[in-house]
Amino acid sequence: MSVPYQIKSIEQYQADYKKSIEEPEAFWASIAEHFVWKRKCLPAGEAGKNVLNWNFKEPKIEWFAGATLNITENCIDRHLADKGEQAAIIWEPNHPDERVRVVTYNRLHKRVCQFAQVLKNNGVKKGDRVCIYMGMVPELAYAVLGCARIGAIHSVIFGGFSAQSIADRLEDAQAEFIVTCDGAYRGDKVIPLKSVIDDALIGNKVVKKVIVYTRTRTPVSMLKGRDIWWEDEMDHAETQLEQQGGIHFPAEEMDAEDPLFILYTSGSTGKPKGVVHTSAGYMLWTNYTFLNVFQYKPGQIHFCTADIGWITGHSYIVYGPLSAGATSLMFEGVPTFPDAGRFWDIVDKHQVNILYTAPTAIRSLMSFGLEPLQGKDLSSLKVLGTVGEPINEEAWNWYDENIGKKKCPIVDTWWQTETGGCLISNLAGITPSRPGWATLPMPGISPKLVDENGNDSPEDEDGLTKGNLVIDKPWPGILRTTWGDHERCRTNYFATYENLYFTGDGAIKDENGFYRITGRVDDVLNVSGHRIGTAEVENAINMHSGVVESAVVGYPHEIKGQGIYAFVIDNNLHGDEELTRKDILQTVSRVIGPIAKPDKIQFVKGLPKTRSGKIMRRILRKIAEGETENLGDTTTLLDPNVVDEIKNGKL
Ligand code: PRX
Repeated sequence: MSVPYQIKSIEQYQADYKKSIEEPEAFWASIAEHFVWKRKCLPAGEAGKNVLNWNFKEPKIEWFAGATLNITENCIDRHLADKGEQAAIIWEPNHPDERVRVVTYNRLHKRVCQFAQVLKNNGVKKGDRVCIYMGMVPELAYAVLGCARIGAIHSVIFGGFSAQSIADRLEDAQAEFIVTCDGAYRGDKVIPLKSVIDDALIGNKVVKKVIVYTRTRTPVSMLKGRDIWWEDEMDHAETQLEQQGGIHFPAEEMDAEDPLFILYTSGSTGKPKGVVHTSAGYMLWTNYTFLNVFQYKPGQIHFCTADIGWITGHSYIVYGPLSAGATSLMFEGVPTFPDAGRFWDIVDKHQVNILYTAPTAIRSLMSFGLEPLQGKDLSSLKVLGTVGEPINEEAWNWYDENIGKKKCPIVDTWWQTETGGCLISNLAGITPSRPGWATLPMPGISPKLVDENGNDSPEDEDGLTKGNLVIDKPWPGILRTTWGDHERCRTNYFATYENLYFTGDGAIKDENGFYRITGRVDDVLNVSGHRIGTAEVENAINMHSGVVESAVVGYPHEIKGQGIYAFVIDNNLHGDEELTRKDILQTVSRVIGPIAKPDKIQFVKGLPKTRSGKIMRRILRKIAEGETENLGDTTTLLDPNVVDEIKNGKL
């Protein structure tokens, strides 16, 4: 069955785009008709009224407020009649010799209902926060959807974050429940997740229960009264539900604007913020963008290589594909284990049709040459996608030639944790692609480019417009708040420019209206497609007792896109720089996680500062990028000599 709102031609894109901007309420109300509601927002025939209430001043953004639904009925129950035995999730384990698991929609329904019952049995109620810290196993999807089923707010934390990061997030969300695994496999490593949770819980008085799924059978400590085994709980819930007449857990009735989840992400300040997405708008947006960007067709297999710990996994492994009744392939491992042909093996083995990955992964696999592709049948591929960072032309061409064999459109999808789903992207095979360009906005998205003062950027003589990327209208998937601190949401995203959502990215627009994202214009780094705040890394480095002060900037990195360069003033107490460097790396790993470890640490005697004491990062950025001559205006520097010293010591 084809989906009526799936765009089939460029003309339809243009018509839908126009309608979505001129009459957003009518546009989204008609799409909303294709979902399962418990109570519809509008009496029949009044579509277009009160679908959206908004102002960017507070900000207040409500889509379909007053309507009720449960997202899991849209992601699971509604597919049971005709797709019950179709695979919802195909799970590919870390090691290729281990058994693949195929989770049909029927099975998914059963497991999610059981897990919702487990949550209920343990006292979880609608609105409670449940922190999920698991590896990429199907049980992670059951946990996420089980929370949504019962109306609890999930907060998934990526398995690479440290105990301290988890503790901060638990505290911020006041989460009372945790779901975790004993351990997780990542390539040849076993990550002891439960033990990290134990460290995070030292001194925590809020968490009542920790549910532990057995994956690696790593020895774990199980605290009586607090820690319980997933398997025991699921067995018990199964018996209970069967006694009540069958495995079904009634889906909680949620307001369209009830929070669905919190996902922490880095900004330009030291503390990550909890981005909040709500039920209906997020559901519509992930579903709509999934169907249109990837042009998903029934029966296809969609492989998004992200981790569910990031927004890409939330939107394009779980909610987008499942709400569309798709088959979503979930991969536990890493692209280079047991060898650099792993992705291509998976594509071949499962006859994957859509492959969605990060430029970092492409660049890293490129560096292994073509040998890992030998003998791999990639002919099932129809659409390729990239996300998370700008893609360089070389990587784009390699992907196009060697993976897509020049037959697959490549979608370059630009979006953010805050946007819920893709905002600027070509639509596979429908609208044109251009290497390095995200191209056109999705229906509902009206981007603008502005200068520092919020004035529209002018077009130059080459027909290009450059500026800071802002959006002037809400779309259903936009964030609603930052958890526990609405003012922070306002100042971060809606205060830089009046009545505009500020993305933090810079962009260029050409005369066709195509956008190219040039990268962050704030103090946020993008390392291997992961967002890391420079202030966050500095705070972590400064926690080391041997450090007096530090400044962190990004520099171009061949594989990661951006690398982390730290300039550090140490107190020289131990005299062994190499040891101090290692100590700093260890400290950052402990405070944030291994993903935030600087690639380079340069010890300096001073940092370039203005007379008012502000670090001039612009200069450090230039030096880290290898620029030694044109450092820009240095007249406001307190002590210009430090610059020479830093230049001479550059790593
Ligand atoms: O700078 C942009 C970059 O990633 C940032 C968002 O990061 P995060 O919230 O972690 O979400 C990543 C996955 C959606 C953006 O502000 N970014 C994301 N996609 C692209 C991109 N930069 C260029 N091209 C993209 N396609």
